[in-house]
Amino acid sequence: MPIAATISKGIFNPHLEVHGNCTLSGEIKINGAKNSALVLMAASLLTEDPLLLKNVPHLTDIEGMGEILLTLGVKLKHNGNNLHIQSEELHHVELPYELVHGLRASFFCIGPLLARLGQAKIPLPGGCEIGARPVVEHIKGLKALGAYINVEHGVVTASVPGSQRRLKGADIVLDCPSVGATETILMAAVLAEGKSSIENAAQEPEIQDLAKLLNSMGAKVSGAGGRKITIQGVNQLHGCDYTVMPDRIEAGTFLIAAAITRSSLRISPIIPEHLNAVLQKLRDCGCKLQIIEDEIQIKADEIKGVDITTQPFPGFPTDLQAPFMALMTTAIGTSVITEKIYENRMQHVAELQRMGASIRLQGSTAVIEGIPQLSAAPVYGGDLRSTAAMVIASLSAKGISKIEGLNHLDRGYAEIENKLNRAGAHIIRH
Ligand code: EPZ
Repeated sequence: MPIAATISKGIFNPHLEVHGNCTLSGEIKINGAKNSALVLMAASLLTEDPLLLKNVPHLTDIEGMGEILLTLGVKLKHNGNNLHIQSEELHHVELPYELVHGLRASFFCIGPLLARLGQAKIPLPGGCEIGARPVVEHIKGLKALGAYINVEHGVVTASVPGSQRRLKGADIVLDCPSVGATETILMAAVLAEGKSSIENAAQEPEIQDLAKLLNSMGAKVSGAGGRKITIQGVNQLHGCDYTVMPDRIEAGTFLIAAAITRSSLRISPIIPEHLNAVLQKLRDCGCKLQIIEDEIQIKADEIKGVDITTQPFPGFPTDLQAPFMALMTTAIGTSVITEKIYENRMQHVAELQRMGASIRLQGSTAVIEGIPQLSAAPVYGGDLRSTAAMVIASLSAKGISKIEGLNHLDRGYAEIENKLNRAGAHIIRH
């Protein structure tokens, strides 16, 4: 009696079928940065004039932020990678929980709404797969600028007192260089009365992109990208055209994909300084890199194990920790990877182990013994960058892998399989 075929009772899960043993070649183009575009979209709330954002990537997170802004009364029109936004009539200052919970970046709206309208009611974003992700610093900064803030039943209700309902400049020192808190305070302070400063500010390139947009809108921000940012409040901001910077994390992901497949690849456009810590580690593990203006050429043969510890910019970015660990699983020798930014950003370890990787995890430190080759397996990415790590690992594995968790992947990578296939991969989306 032939054994009856096992019929999967599970519902259909979208997945990528990735054929391993692949070599990449040619060029991969980089989109606009997700983590910049999201905050620049929120900044559009600061003026009633039309704003044109160029080089906006097509991602589910960007769609989500568009829904958030529509809820507030903002007019939006996508035209390819251009996004026309106008916040002329904001008829809402409240965001529904289900939208905020689905997209943490929606919390970015609190600063601009307070600055523009003097009030905002936004659910706490809560934690996510990688950690608790509190917004204590964001709230501390808004209070310092004069906002009354009440947090009850999971909702942050904020208002600005006084007839003018105008925030007042203040000097703020962050307990930790939080990217979101720096961006929130920056967007609130640009319309405040008087001068503000943010010390221990986050230095990520996305902060500089935001400051450049705000200054193009008529704000007076200086020092962005350094530890101390100074803001001279103005009475109002005007519209402008602005091009989102290239996505350093997408670029780093594809550089690592070239390294794990021992390929030669060209990546552009990219601002090389945005990836210095990553480029150094790629060189340290044996990659040859050539930088020609906004293009990076990578050539990888033998890869040796190197240690990384994630840090705030300009240190090694936490968002490339999982992809880099995938690379280290087939490096020669031992490597130690320590995650210092988030308390739960090691979900990819178990999945890499299922592909044969030799990894010992102690808390947020992983010790990886390189093996000659991973073996393909059905794997699941529990968050955005873990799923990207699964794609990278399966490109070089022996056999055909099935990767689930595309809802995470599509948040941060536009058409990743098409880009890789154009460079020689064999990936099918089901
Ligand atoms: C931004 O998140 C990015 N997201 C993240 O990218 C990125 O990992 C992170 O910055 C760090 O670079 C967007 O820009 C939309 P943080 P954000 O506030 O602003 C702690 C991706 O994969 N913290 O700098 O939330 C916090 O718990 C995503 O694209 C406090 O303790 O990052 C975390 O451990 C993931 N108290 C650390 O700081 C606070 O009040 C970094 O958080 C605020 C933060």
